[in-house]
Amino acid sequence: MTTQQPRVYVTRKLTGDALGRLSVSARVAIWDGEDAPPYDVLAGEAAGSEALVTLLTDRIDAELLGGSPRLRVVANVATGYDNIDLDAATRLGIAVTNTPGILEETTADLAFALLLASARRVAEGDRLVRNGGWTSWSPTLLLGRDVHGATLGIVGLGKIGSAVARRALGFGMRVIYFSRRCHSATETELGVMLRPVNYRPLDELLSQSDFVSIHLPLTAETRGLIGRRELALMKPQAHLINTSRGPLVDQAALYEALAEGRLGGGGLDVYEEEPLPADSPLISLPNVVLTPHLGSATVVTRERMADVAVTDCLRALRGERPTNCLNPEVFAKAAVAV
Ligand code: DGY
Repeated sequence: MTTQQPRVYVTRKLTGDALGRLSVSARVAIWDGEDAPPYDVLAGEAAGSEALVTLLTDRIDAELLGGSPRLRVVANVATGYDNIDLDAATRLGIAVTNTPGILEETTADLAFALLLASARRVAEGDRLVRNGGWTSWSPTLLLGRDVHGATLGIVGLGKIGSAVARRALGFGMRVIYFSRRCHSATETELGVMLRPVNYRPLDELLSQSDFVSIHLPLTAETRGLIGRRELALMKPQAHLINTSRGPLVDQAALYEALAEGRLGGGGLDVYEEEPLPADSPLISLPNVVLTPHLGSATVVTRERMADVAVTDCLRALRGERPTNCLNPEVFAKAAVAV
């Protein structure tokens, strides 16, 4: 008797050869649109699948999970998993995996790119040159802010925050951080490079930093962490960089602070609503650099993320505990043969 291979629904074409590897052991169906599959399509596909390989754009809520009796694993090709109802998955015995330990340096590169671009008005300069508005070298043209010697406040000294801190120390910045946990080991590791990286309560960090870069996951606790009150604490002309998740920052309050010139600038890769709507007032502001959630977007990193997600998906389907399982308690449940 032959056992039918499990069905895996993949919500987007992925780079690299991970999907080829998946299709050796599973019946693979792939959404081939450029944008995310509509929720109804996803729910319908999930209902008939043993596994999902998903992206941060896919809402995997309790209703979808509850309507998918065959589902054993959701392998999210992302470090963040705020798109998935983890509690519901655990209740239903469905494993959830993510891809940590891959994108940290890549995302830190982008955070630093946004910081430099915002400080030195790179995007404004680019637009000026392209629009034919550059008529002469001028002593007052697009004056920016020095990065070296400035204070960077890192909100969340996890792996990405630490990677940003290392870059900042290399640029001669003073680095302070706020974190929910004490990071004395990281402090020591970073401190030996040049100078100490010191903890500050969030309010103090905001009022002392020339640049603030956010590196916390989105949870019920961190949603709206940087609101009107926190923005008002920031130094006049400070810059805010966000490569974590949009809802950590009150976007309307940030817009006001930037539009009124209370903040010097910003670099945003993530938004309350993604894609950022074309009529967002942020788009009209010259002093904010906007990128389309590109934190992990390099060839190598995206290939490795896909590879790790597929490996864990196959492990879960074999009834083994995946390396990056977010709810290992489900592994008391039955396995599907692969
Ligand atoms: C993640 O993995 O959480 C990132 O936001 C995707 O680049």
